[in-house]
Amino acid sequence: MAAFQLLFPLLVTCVAASARAPRRLPACQVVQSDAFCSDLSLRSAPLDLPPGVQTLDLSRNHVQNLTRETLAFHSGLRRLNLRSNEIHFIQPGLFTDMADLKVLDLSRNHLHVLALSKVSLGPLTSVETLDLSSNQLYTGMTDYFLADSPSLEVLSLNGNSITKIAQSAFGGSPRLKKIGLHNNVILEIEGGAFDSLSNLTELDLSKNSITCITDFNLCNLKVLNLSKNSVELFQSVTSTDHYRLLSLDLSENKMSSFPLLPRNNRLEHLDVSRNRLQSVNDTGTPDEKTFLYHLRYLDMSYNHLKSLPECFFHCMGSLEVLNVSNNCISSFSIADERFLRTVKTINLGYNSLRSLTFGENTLQSLEELVLRGNDLATLDHGVFRQLPSIKHLQLRQNNLEICSSDRERQDAPGCVSFSSVPTLEILDLSDNQLRTLPADAFAGSPLKSLDLSLNPGLDMDRDSLLGLERSLVHLLLRENNISSLSTDLSSLTSLKHIDLSTNQLTAVPAWNRDSSIESLNLQNNHLVTLEYSTMLALEHSLKTLYMGSNPLSCCSNLDLLQMVQNSAVVVPDIETATCVHEEYSEPVNIEKVTWDMCHTSGVRYYAIAVAVIALVVVVASVLLVKCLQARKPQHRSFNA
Ligand SMILES: *[C@@H]1O[C@H](CO)[C@@H](O)[C@H](O)[C@H]1NC(C)=O
Ligand SMILES: *[C@@H]1O[C@H](CO)[C@@H](O)[C@H](O)[C@H]1NC(C)=O
Ligand SMILES: *[C@@H]1O[C@H](CO)[C@@H](O)[C@H](O)[C@H]1NC(C)=O
Ligand SMILES: *[C@@H]1O[C@H](CO)[C@@H](O)[C@H](O)[C@H]1NC(C)=O
Repeated sequence: MAAFQLLFPLLVTCVAASARAPRRLPACQVVQSDAFCSDLSLRSAPLDLPPGVQTLDLSRNHVQNLTRETLAFHSGLRRLNLRSNEIHFIQPGLFTDMADLKVLDLSRNHLHVLALSKVSLGPLTSVETLDLSSNQLYTGMTDYFLADSPSLEVLSLNGNSITKIAQSAFGGSPRLKKIGLHNNVILEIEGGAFDSLSNLTELDLSKNSITCITDFNLCNLKVLNLSKNSVELFQSVTSTDHYRLLSLDLSENKMSSFPLLPRNNRLEHLDVSRNRLQSVNDTGTPDEKTFLYHLRYLDMSYNHLKSLPECFFHCMGSLEVLNVSNNCISSFSIADERFLRTVKTINLGYNSLRSLTFGENTLQSLEELVLRGNDLATLDHGVFRQLPSIKHLQLRQNNLEICSSDRERQDAPGCVSFSSVPTLEILDLSDNQLRTLPADAFAGSPLKSLDLSLNPGLDMDRDSLLGLERSLVHLLLRENNISSLSTDLSSLTSLKHIDLSTNQLTAVPAWNRDSSIESLNLQNNHLVTLEYSTMLALEHSLKTLYMGSNPLSCCSNLDLLQMVQNSAVVVPDIETATCVHEEYSEPVNIEKVTWDMCHTSGVRYYAIAVAVIALVVVVASVLLVKCLQARKPQHRSFNA
């Protein structure tokens, strides 16, 4: 009976399934006139799609032959997605009559097989966007698809095996605006290949094998990407034509000289990072120089530049971001206030800077200066006061010393001052082998974020953070080998995030209810107890507490641990947050600590007391019974 009960619903399901056998495949999702049939193991479009479908998504199926039948005779489509199928045959003339088809995605198929058969596809009458990426197409094969595509505007040929762009390659698609040829093996572009394309504005040739661009003459192009090729030379035609190029990416190539750009250009974004630039040309008469009046972003990082003369910037009146990090520049100096007036960010990180000077009133817009990894030791002590807009100084991995006010007054060399920089908000002085942090080190600089980490042995004066009471929000002091803080952190009333991890602290700094600490990192210190009253004072603002890798005592911190267990404070390193309990050989995770664990001995005494009382009662009653028995009449024996 039980078996039948189980069988019956099964039978019903089978019968129901066989009744609609022709539609056994999972159905497409139809939303208004759009049909989504992705990933359904289909060989063709289902026959039961409603008429008038405009979007058909057949991606990730098993379509092999693309014919009118496989599209279930839907000829009114606007968008057809056949990405990731196995198409190796397309019925000639299939798209001729599809007068509404604007977007056709044939990426990730086997179209090289079709091209090998040399059957022309016929016109792509109205297709505007065509994706032929990842089809193993090689040189010449694109002709079968592009020969007659009068409406085509956006074409992707990314991820194929094209080695050469022939002069005639785009002759059949004169309206192209955007061509993607990323990730092919292009070695050669025949002269004039793009000349007929007067609407072409974006060309992506990144990740190919192009070695040389001479006579660059595509005036209408706005975006050109030549990143990840082997370009050694980029040269434009000498002419006075106006070029519209806005963005040129030449990163990751083999250029040893700065590109020769069109004289009349509007270039805004130029990336020549990761090349072999040795120098920038600062010679030549003004006539021969490249004018980059519109340039806003210039990346020359990861090259071999040894110097960067300030006259190089003479015609860059709009530059906002300059990245020259990871070069071999030993000195950087801007004396003329006309140069780099608009620049907001300069990245000079990872060079070998020995000297850095800024003239009066120069770099008026500079907000962010990155000098990390330069091993800088001596700087003019007022150097950062010369920068009227400086907000963010990144000085990690240098060898700087901070001036005390007396030393500065005496004009003693060898130290840098960070006080009285009225715009400074973010300062990173980590990993500088700082020994001392003098009093008033940052007075008059409204710092919001201060990183002093990785300066082991740092001796902070009691008044070193004076003046930051109402501004400082982030303070990082990790890996400083600090055993006790002499600086009073409780006066920093804006402080929200403090990192004290990896030190030798044995006590939590004293805080009171005026503090607004939200995140406190105490990981990896020598803390045995966390002062409960301090933690209680923090509870109202605290959101995140790192406390792992400390030799905490379970039972001395019971109140605290229960507070952590019951409050909304997140302990991200809970895995390593353990405490020591004398009765456990291994440290106990703080989540597992209970009140009883620390009061078990009391319980045991209670149990022993109960047991003793019980024993006494038992013994007493036994004695009593015996005693009563003894009092019974003596002569119970039967004398025979
Ligand atoms: C695809 O179509 C061609 C030509 O119509 C035919 O020869 C071939 O057998 C078809 N292949 C499949 C897998 O249907
Ligand atoms: C150029 O192409 C590379 C590689 O595809 C890409 O990472 C980079 O973002 C592109 N450059 C621009 C400016 O879009
Ligand atoms: C160069 O620096 C700028 C600004 O700091 C940054 O946006 C860019 O990613 C850097 N370039 C490289 C190649 O790291
Ligand atoms: C860290 O401090 C201890 C004593 O507190 C000292 O023995 C040790 O040398 C210091 N380590 C460094 C790297 O300063």
